[in-house]
Amino acid sequence: MAKQKKTLTTTLIVLLLFVIAVQFIPKAERNDSARGAKAITKQYDVPEKVQSILQKACFDCHSNRTEYPWYSNIQPFAKFMEGHILRGKDELNFDEFGSYAIKKQYNKLRSLENQLENEAMPLRSYTLIHHNARLSNEEISLLTNWSKALRNKMDIKL
Ligand code: HEC
Repeated sequence: MAKQKKTLTTTLIVLLLFVIAVQFIPKAERNDSARGAKAITKQYDVPEKVQSILQKACFDCHSNRTEYPWYSNIQPFAKFMEGHILRGKDELNFDEFGSYAIKKQYNKLRSLENQLENEAMPLRSYTLIHHNARLSNEEISLLTNWSKALRNKMDIKL
C-alpha cells in the first residue's frame, strides 16, 4: 500500500514538472496587419449576413483578426491551436483574398463550398468550445449560395 502511494506521488510530481516544463515552449501568435484593400469585402460584394457568419465561424483561423482566448497562453493548448491557426491562414485568408490570382480565388471558393457541404469546416475541435460557430443548415446554404454566385461571376474572367 505504502509503495503504491509513493508511486502515485512520484507520478504526480513528474506530471507536474512536465506541465511546468512545456510552458517554456514558445507561443507564436500571428495577426498580420493587412486588412485593408485586399480584404474580400473590399474586392467583392459580401452581404452583411454572410460577413457575420464568416466572422463568427471562420475568422479566427482564416483572417488577420484572430481572437486569441486566455487558454491560448497555456501549453499544450497553445501548440495545438497555433498549428490550426497558422495552417488555416496559409490555406485561406479572407483579409488577403484580393491578393490571390483569380484562379486561386475561384478554387478557394469551390473548396469552401466542399468543406461546408461535408461539414469539415469549421473544425470540430473549434466548435466544441465555440458553440456559436456551429452552423445551421440555413447558414451553410447561405454561405455556399453566395460563394457559388460569386464564382459564376468570376467565370467570365477565367
Ligand atoms: C480552428 C481553426 C479553423 C476554423 C475556425 C476554420 N478553419 Fe478552415 N481550415 C483550417 C485549417 C487548419 C485548414 C487546413 C486544412 C486542414 O488541416 O484541414 C483549413 C482549411 C480550409 C479550407 C481549404 C482551403 C484549400 O486550400 O482548399 C477552406 C476552404 C476552409 N478552411 C474554409 C473555412 C470556413 C468557410 C470556415 C468557417 C465556416 C473555416 N474554414 C473555419 C482551420 C480552421
